Amino acid sequence: MKLFIDSAKIEEIQKLEDLGVIDGITTNPTLASVTGKKFKDLVSEIFETLSKDRIINLEVIATDYDNILKQARALAALDSRVVVKIPCIPDGLKACKKLSEEGIRVNITLVFSPMQALLCAKMGAFYVSPFVGRLDDISMDGMDVISEIVKIYKNYEYKTQILFASVRSVEHIRLAALAGVDIVTSPYNFIMEMYNHPLTDKGLAQFLEDWKNAGEEFIAV
Ligand code: E4P
Repeated sequence: MKLFIDSAKIEEIQKLEDLGVIDGITTNPTLASVTGKKFKDLVSEIFETLSKDRIINLEVIATDYDNILKQARALAALDSRVVVKIPCIPDGLKACKKLSEEGIRVNITLVFSPMQALLCAKMGAFYVSPFVGRLDDISMDGMDVISEIVKIYKNYEYKTQILFASVRSVEHIRLAALAGVDIVTSPYNFIMEMYNHPLTDKGLAQFLEDWKNAGEEFIAV
């Protein structure tokens, strides 16, 4: 399973890039706007921060076919790592088909139902992004939507990859992996939480204490 960071904060992206744990990033207009940076500058910084085999998901803000095409082509031309995020609306899906035929990879975002996901696959999307947390936020079961998308894609052997988005907890990441999604995009804090277990901390403290008490010396390094 691939792991993306869902963030436009360079410090967070840099930290996880350094740890080598992420395969790419997702951003959206909200995440980009809270940085207070000009979009052009932010994008350049992201390109510099991530190594060459990472995936960088950047989103269009147009909502009509012609302008979605223009913005998507402009984003894709910036860097070979870019996957273009387009909202799940009729013009967006129409543009997805055209762009996919041109070889531009498209991530259809703001997906909330298996029927939307079915259309994304039919229109040749590279990624489909179901927003699980936002469904849970309104007391629906986001995981049910994921299970149905996984099943539908298996039934028809669609190549579109499922990108589990809108993560609210580490538990979401666990459930996503069990459901067999291709990618999870998570905020920084939940990725860092994945490293944690109290028994790891306790065990390590004990190992170091026992070593110290034994007065042992480590091999020459
Ligand atoms: C993914 O691409 C989205 O940017 C993101 O996961 C949305 O998450 P949110 O519901 O926490 O805003």
